[in-house]
Amino acid sequence: MAKLRFLLFFTSFFVSLVSISAIRCFECEDCGKIPDEGTIVECHQTAFNCYNYTMTDGNNKTYSRACGMSFGSDGCFTYTTATQVVHLHCNCEGDLCNG
Ligand SMILES: *[C@@H]1O[C@H](CO)[C@@H](O)[C@H](O)[C@H]1NC(C)=O
Ligand SMILES: *[C@@H]1O[C@H](CO)[C@@H](O)[C@H](O)[C@H]1NC(C)=O
Repeated sequence: MAKLRFLLFFTSFFVSLVSISAIRCFECEDCGKIPDEGTIVECHQTAFNCYNYTMTDGNNKTYSRACGMSFGSDGCFTYTTATQVVHLHCNCEGDLCNG
């Protein structure tokens, strides 16, 4: 009996771990400035955060959003590629924070 209770404890412990770690993010490539409800995804359990990035190429801006794997890296950074495309990449933690 004690063994069974132990097993039940463990099972519910794991179930709650799993449900805590599944986060939701917007996921889309070359999408609009305002995120679309239709692009909401349940991230894989290995994802900890969400991110978005804006690519600016001359006058063209494209927005993309996805689930991220980096932990504890809230915030934005920017870099410019050799072809003069400016990337603004933002990581954030929490459901649907990358909108
Ligand atoms: C911007 O987008 C337009 C239409 O998609 C394209 O014709 C043009 O070459 C793009 N400009 C740059 C600088 O990428
Ligand atoms: C990108 O995500 C940040 C939060 O990290 C948010 O403040 C910003 O509005 C988002 N940008 C776009 C274009 O979705």
